[in-house]
Amino acid sequence: MSRVISIANQKGGVAKTTTAINLAASLALAKQRVLLIDMDPQANLTSGVGLKGQVAPGGTIYEALTGNSPSADAFVLPTGIDYLSIIPADRQLTGAEIELVPMQDRERRLRTITNVLRSRFDYVFIDTPPSLGLLTLNALVAADSVLVPLNCEYFALEGIAELMATLDRVRAALNPDLALEGVLLTMYDERTNLGQQVSGNIREFFGDKVYSTVIPRNIRLGEAPSHGLPVILYDARSRGAEAYISLAKEFLARDHAAQG
Ligand SMILES: Nc1ncnc2c1ncn2[C@@H]1O[C@H](COP(=O)(O)OP(=O)(O)OP(=O)(O)O)[C@@H](O)[C@H]1O
Ligand SMILES: [Mg+2]
Repeated sequence: MSRVISIANQKGGVAKTTTAINLAASLALAKQRVLLIDMDPQANLTSGVGLKGQVAPGGTIYEALTGNSPSADAFVLPTGIDYLSIIPADRQLTGAEIELVPMQDRERRLRTITNVLRSRFDYVFIDTPPSLGLLTLNALVAADSVLVPLNCEYFALEGIAELMATLDRVRAALNPDLALEGVLLTMYDERTNLGQQVSGNIREFFGDKVYSTVIPRNIRLGEAPSHGLPVILYDARSRGAEAYISLAKEFLARDHAAQG
């Protein structure tokens, strides 16, 4: 059974894209067929897998969302990693936020695409921009569940009420089955009391939805994107790589448990 998971938090710089790339690559390494979809005009996901400026035969996610293309397959590009594909983005996607407004089924454009593609993949991960606009809305309507990264800083929970309210609105109007996949603590610094305090608060708030795996602050995770590589290929022995591999194991274990 394939699953579509959006990675969302309208707060900027909490490791949405880092988590999309590295969780996806770790699952691909475990021979899971994974599709990444870049729904952020910053296109950090696309450059993070080394495909900046590359376009699939049908175009980027921009053309997929705004055009009337018959074939969703035409937007999928293989990456340099076995089992890992991507629908790339570029700056043009900024325009979609406005161009989608008058379109029919404007919130369901991405869902139409993922529904066609899901049979080809075990997991589809959608990276979203730091806003709750129409691009993120499309990602939430297309998804079975949402994975929320939270950085372990003082304001981590700021904006979370708004995100949870948005999920409720999406459930009420557009996607009743949208679930909370999990909450991931990122950029954790064990040397500070603050990190421990904040992670404690988050666990109190979200209970067992929070992954036991915590992603530490790790310089290799920051460096890997500039080489167009997931961290497991850039420095497999780094703590960042170990953490995302451990997250992938926990993710798969939860998934198998849920499916009995
Ligand atoms: N655990 C980590 N340790 C060190 N640096 C990290 C870590 N996770 C992410 N980074 C770096 O922090 C920055 C923000 O991460 P990232 O781009 O993944 O966040 P984002 O939530 O996708 O941001 P945006 O909201 O702009 O899309 C990037 O430069 C990334 O390389
Ligand atoms: Mg990002």
